[in-house]
Amino acid sequence: MCGIVGYVGPRDSQDILVSGLARLEYRGYDSAGIAVIDDGGSLAVRKRSGKLARLREALETDPIGRGTTGIGHTRWATHGGPTDQNAHPHLADDDRLAVIHNGIIENFASLRSELVGEGITFVSDTDTEVAAHLLARAYRESGDLVAAFRAVVDRLEGAFTLLAAHEDHPGLVVGARRNSPLVIGLGEGETFLGSDVAAFVEHTRRALAVGQDEIVAIRPGVVEVTDFAGNAVEPQPFEVSWDAAAADKGGWSSFMAKEVSEEPEAVANTVRGRIQDGEIRVPELEGLDDFFRGIDRVVVLACGTAYYSGLVGKYALEKWARIPVDVELAHEFRYREPIVSESTLVVSISQSGETMDTLMAVKEAARLGAKTLSICNTQGSTIPRESDAVVYTHAGPEVAVASTKAFVAQITALYLLALHVGRVRRSLPDEVSADATEQLAALPEKIQWILDNEQERTEQLAHWMADTRSVLFLGRHVGYPIALEGALKLKEISYIHAEGFAAGELKHGPIALIEPGQPVFVVVPSPRGSITMHQKVISNIEEIRARGARIIAIAEQGDSAVLPSADEVLRIPLASPLFEPLLAVVPLHIFAMGLATAKGLDVDQPRNLAKSVTVE
Ligand code: AGP
Repeated sequence: MCGIVGYVGPRDSQDILVSGLARLEYRGYDSAGIAVIDDGGSLAVRKRSGKLARLREALETDPIGRGTTGIGHTRWATHGGPTDQNAHPHLADDDRLAVIHNGIIENFASLRSELVGEGITFVSDTDTEVAAHLLARAYRESGDLVAAFRAVVDRLEGAFTLLAAHEDHPGLVVGARRNSPLVIGLGEGETFLGSDVAAFVEHTRRALAVGQDEIVAIRPGVVEVTDFAGNAVEPQPFEVSWDAAAADKGGWSSFMAKEVSEEPEAVANTVRGRIQDGEIRVPELEGLDDFFRGIDRVVVLACGTAYYSGLVGKYALEKWARIPVDVELAHEFRYREPIVSESTLVVSISQSGETMDTLMAVKEAARLGAKTLSICNTQGSTIPRESDAVVYTHAGPEVAVASTKAFVAQITALYLLALHVGRVRRSLPDEVSADATEQLAALPEKIQWILDNEQERTEQLAHWMADTRSVLFLGRHVGYPIALEGALKLKEISYIHAEGFAAGELKHGPIALIEPGQPVFVVVPSPRGSITMHQKVISNIEEIRARGARIIAIAEQGDSAVLPSADEVLRIPLASPLFEPLLAVVPLHIFAMGLATAKGLDVDQPRNLAKSVTVE
């Protein structure tokens, strides 16, 4: 979704703005622009549809003078197509005020009519231009940009992060946020704003979180935050735990390739500091232990890949914490008049912490009285700030739209939660806890084994299958969500039909899809776990093989039962059944990346998709 950068300080803002926008490219966008108050006191804007390269061209052919105050924006079109005119910043007040916006102003049509009725002429189709003219009108009354924001924000419905700069005020950028992200970067005598820390992390890792319904005024080295009523607010400081280098590809062919290679350390870093004396202890959860003893239900809310990690987590929470768990698509939960109470724990899962569907579902759950816990990978993002507690995954920045290392980190965090709650509720036998703790600690090495020993073969398989038009995925028990995740990964970056099924569902319909040559991935459970389940999946394989399917089995080392009926076997190391998902998913991530690469597609920024869906 949209990327936002703001800067005030001693340096020329243009390069800072454009390089900040470049670090936000992964959010997905279709136009870009900057506004700068130059040293002569004039406000200049350059904006173009398309990628940042076109904005850079515009700045070269029609340069802006040096200017130390500026705002920048990458737009993912919601209202109005991706055109130069609809790109941000938008101008008002005789082109002396520039405004950028992330989110959707849901009542923009009525506001636009009001302004047109006052003789305002609009030059774009966007909701943002409405905010620009409202701010201009309020500014003309007070001459104070912060007061203008205060007068306008309560008229706006929906989600917005707005930044503005006015020609009258060089050295000042003002912003406001509601249901959309905004963070502050603190430099030496310079101050930054960003839709996330990637916008300024190359300059500073000291940051402040801007809370819901807050207005921020930044000057060089000075920050003032107030709420919408004008009361001073002390923003929450935090240190960004990764640096700009981490956000680069580091020599990998794609961010996705880099991030798949980081899956072992994503798990290791998420566990780090949360196993003490052989026992799982999640410090961030200690304050909730009394609450955990009283809960009677857990609801997990998420979207996409995060939802699939929740489906895996359900098995662990029910097994170790002995609490019923419902895993819900956030956007369905919210409109279903859900039943939650004070004894419901609502766990949201979100890599970005900005997914609007998930954020709004969390707010609905909180409104209904539930306790909310966020599992999130992005510090200072909105969903953790709107939750009662947060367990951060420490997967590091995940830039590729297709989520990979965050997925394994999310499952890890859910297992830590399940073990912590199980221990607190005394539902977890010591030997089970000890085994699970050992298994968690051993996961990074096992994932690394797959990368070292199976990645090449998996990529070769993907290359051979580059012309495939459809791939099916089967799994049972904790393997079922992995089948769903494998299908999503493949379809979202290779654009071919892919579908995941519970293996037991085959005979209830999907087997009709099987025809000679149909590739089917099968996640095979360990024969050391439930032998029945293993045998049933082997039977499933034989059923589809008899109808001509081409079977790629993901099976543990030494499982020979798959050999007679699978065309290919991708091996994973031995692990206890609940830990196999974190291994079985790795070949599926590699396969999807390999097939998309073989098709010459943009693995990191697939068509139509954005890294963080910050609109509903
Ligand atoms: C996953 O590969 C997709 N990019 C998408 O399904 C994603 O998982 C979903 O939009 C949720 O994003 P979040 O984890 O940032 O909330």
